[in-house]
Amino acid sequence: MEAGDFKDFAKAMADYIAEYLENIRDRQVVPSVKPGYLRPLVPEQAPQKAEPWTAVMADIERVVMSGVTHWHSPRFHAYFPTANSYPAIVADMLSGAIACIGFSWIASPACTELEVVMLDWLGQMIGLPETFLARSGGEAGGVIQGTASEATLVALLGAKARTISRVKEQHPEWTELEILSKLVGYCNKQAHSSVERAGLLGGVKMRSLQPDSKRKLRGETLKEAIDEDIRKGLIPFYVVATLGTTSSCTFDALDEIGDVCNSYNVWLHVDAAYAGSAFICPEYRYLMKGVEKADSYNFNPHKWMLVNFDCSAMWLKQPRWVVDAFNVDPLYLKHDHQGAVPDYRHWQIPLGRRFRALKLWFVLRLYGVENLQKFIRKHIALAHLFEKLCSADDRFEIFEEVTMGLVCFRLKDSNEMNEELLRLINGRGKIHLVPSKIDDVYFIRLAICSRFSEESDIKISWEEIKTCADEVTKNV
Ligand SMILES: Cc1ncc(COP(=O)(O)O)c(C=O)c1O
Repeated sequence: MEAGDFKDFAKAMADYIAEYLENIRDRQVVPSVKPGYLRPLVPEQAPQKAEPWTAVMADIERVVMSGVTHWHSPRFHAYFPTANSYPAIVADMLSGAIACIGFSWIASPACTELEVVMLDWLGQMIGLPETFLARSGGEAGGVIQGTASEATLVALLGAKARTISRVKEQHPEWTELEILSKLVGYCNKQAHSSVERAGLLGGVKMRSLQPDSKRKLRGETLKEAIDEDIRKGLIPFYVVATLGTTSSCTFDALDEIGDVCNSYNVWLHVDAAYAGSAFICPEYRYLMKGVEKADSYNFNPHKWMLVNFDCSAMWLKQPRWVVDAFNVDPLYLKHDHQGAVPDYRHWQIPLGRRFRALKLWFVLRLYGVENLQKFIRKHIALAHLFEKLCSADDRFEIFEEVTMGLVCFRLKDSNEMNEELLRLINGRGKIHLVPSKIDDVYFIRLAICSRFSEESDIKISWEEIKTCADEVTKNV
């Protein structure tokens, strides 16, 4: 493809994207295709001869859109949001054009340096203490990981390296294998499954602890578990505190957990994957009280801060434990400025990395902090609107206190009745939601996901849920 065609193709695509997003609420939120729908729609083999871009463009609706779940539709209320904005889409175009692999500073200095500065901007926006930021002049700083799951694993590996080094000093006669077999980490039973998975991948035990009646992990519970394990001869080394659990968006008692971790010299990682974006609004920072006691902190601007996937922001107070744990330094990756700036390949699991800081730079500049705050506040207000509508119908109950853009609700009835309700809702295809279950209570989650969501959309979703509730309860 020559530059002229590229310009035409890109312009046509920009028009298509704008049309798609601005009219997305008119599409069926989940497609009605069956598995295997796509193969008959495309040829068996790649074309031998080049096709015109117009032919590809002409196939997008038929082949792709017919099988797309529209995550950015105001009718989409499943999981948690994933972000989408025009500035981030354009930044991804530029990232694609530069197409560098920024594994070291010299591999593309702008790629590393913009990331360092953007993570400082972002850290200040959410009120992270200076001890996490590169601008503090120490070793601390931020990095963009692909996902929160990677951040949890990277922090676990850092915690493992730090603890092994400390225990080796205390017990030089112990082998690394012996120490490894004694390591134990902790999280809330409601923590995301990626925390348990990080334990499996890191080859260490992770214990899931019972939260209190509000689904928060408390310091006392953690302390008891740590004491119990120390009595058994185990070595507590890592704790993940969740701010905004996946099932019902509750917040662990970070301040209490931080005290326990600090007094036992245990690495504290904070997983604020979804809810962390809300901390750009100062009124929600009470939920991250105690953050200064953590060793690492992570949230996903790609969930709720208008930066398209993937952009998971992570800060480390002492990156040296991660850098040293992952440091293999072949000659072909060395450069003359090593040590003066981060070589981000040591801060992550893969070697390659895209120029993702561009997305942050574009979004932060083209929205400004003020508009991002407005966006978060609007989503939370819409969640409260849904909560109000739902609470006014005495067939329903709210399962969890609404603090962010997620409402957990259920019919005041059996789990089976609620399952039936959700089957009907999703079966009709007008809106899309997913359930969860805590302590054997099945409930339905309604997340405000789309940046296009308005009050009228929430009322439409509520009407649809009410209609389905009329249907499933009519024979009772
Ligand atoms: C609390 C929490 N942690 C981690 C994750 C995993 O996020 P990612 O897909 O970025 O790994 C999620 C996903 O929703 C989450 O809610």
